[in-house]
Amino acid sequence: MKFFIDTANLDQIRQAQELGILDGVTTNPSLMAKEGITGDDAVQAHYIAICEIVDGDVSAEVISTDYEGMIKEGEALAALHANIVVKVPAIVDGIRAIRWFTDNGIRTNCTLIFSPGQALLAAKAGASYVSPFVGRLDDISSDGLQLIEKIRAIYDNYDFGTEILAASVRHSMHVIECAEIGADIMTGPLSAILGLMKHPLTDSGLQQFLADHAKAKG
Ligand code: G3P
Repeated sequence: MKFFIDTANLDQIRQAQELGILDGVTTNPSLMAKEGITGDDAVQAHYIAICEIVDGDVSAEVISTDYEGMIKEGEALAALHANIVVKVPAIVDGIRAIRWFTDNGIRTNCTLIFSPGQALLAAKAGASYVSPFVGRLDDISSDGLQLIEKIRAIYDNYDFGTEILAASVRHSMHVIECAEIGADIMTGPLSAILGLMKHPLTDSGLQQFLADHAKAKG
């Protein structure tokens, strides 16, 4: 399973990179706004800064919602760095744009996936990644993990090359469950990644080892 971090915060990206387990980064317009990054020049400079920290794919989302606008924006984003993947919303013009990007050698991440049908069309259009939003489905009392299961089954039935990037992962149990189902990648906050290491028996066991060592040493 590949680990992506879902943030535009450079310090958190650096921390995850220093752990030695980071495979990529996902961002979205809300995450960029949270860091106060606005204006085309600042946004582009920020994507380049992220690409310089991580040796892996970095999803950069288009703002346009029409076909021509998405193509223009996506081409400019892809030209910033070889690791940029153009993130496109799962709407009709988005599927058309993904097909164009696929035919023109630009990799894509189809985002805002909430149904197996959207994931099927995105794969047909040649998306490199689909991003089903686990946490946001859970938020409305639906089942985000069941969506991952359904997409996994469909992609396996037809050997689609599109990778399932489980997004809107909120906590460590989401990560484990996505790994059990066979999501190719998970993207979530640093807390969901670091949370995987937490166990009270590890902490108490380590304290005991250190105390016994100190006692034996006199
Ligand atoms: O980047 C897309 C997705 O991961 C958003 O997550 O927590 O805002 O639902 P969240």
